[in-house]
Amino acid sequence: MQRIMTDTEYYNLIQPYRDAMKLLLTRLEVLNHTIYETAESKSIHMVQNRIKKKTSIENKLITRGEKPTKDNAKNMLMDIAGIRVVCYFIEDIDQLIHMLKNQSDLILIRESDYISNPKPNGYRSHHLIVGVNVFCLDASEYYPVEIQFRTISMDFWAALEHRISYKKQYDNKEQRVAELLRYSNILRDMEKEFEKYKD
Ligand code: GTP
Ligand code: MG
Repeated sequence: MQRIMTDTEYYNLIQPYRDAMKLLLTRLEVLNHTIYETAESKSIHMVQNRIKKKTSIENKLITRGEKPTKDNAKNMLMDIAGIRVVCYFIEDIDQLIHMLKNQSDLILIRESDYISNPKPNGYRSHHLIVGVNVFCLDASEYYPVEIQFRTISMDFWAALEHRISYKKQYDNKEQRVAELLRYSNILRDMEKEFEKYKD
């Protein structure tokens, strides 16, 4: 039988991730108005955040063939804390990422640029796993936070694709993937058209 996490273990697990996420949300806010003060208009449309639910953590570990324990979650999962930053234009994303990478107290753990290299299904977003130093009583430790940077059109596609397809079984998979890829390209082209009016 799999030993599952107790509610107390889950609560203790997520506390520092919550702190790391809050620190990063504040940093993003500061960077956003730093950019905003120098540019004519703001770069962030909206920000969402979430802490991975207990059952999602357990299921992800079990899917990977690991025991759903607190230690495994801490050692193997990089997306217990997640932030989604939806920007207006790709240029805004590049600027924010550039500034974030220059923050001396943050570390870059992983980067996946699915804007330069979209997934075969058409998924586009720029992901960073950022390590945030969280201090407690007499020690400090880096905790990973996943940040997904997207434009509004990428978010529109990803939200609908997630609703109808992501990690689901269905018939005619090839046809649907082809259709979704086509929509992703249409949205990319439309977004490019809007860029003409940016400045
Ligand atoms: P996960 O096990 O899903 O976390 O994937 P991963 O660790 O291989 O990382 P990846 O960068 O592929 O995906 C991280 C997150 O990006 C996912 O949890 C989703 O939120 C999002 N994502 C990645 N691919 C897709 C996709 O094809 N469609 C949608 N809607 N979201 C995606
Ligand atoms: Mg994930």
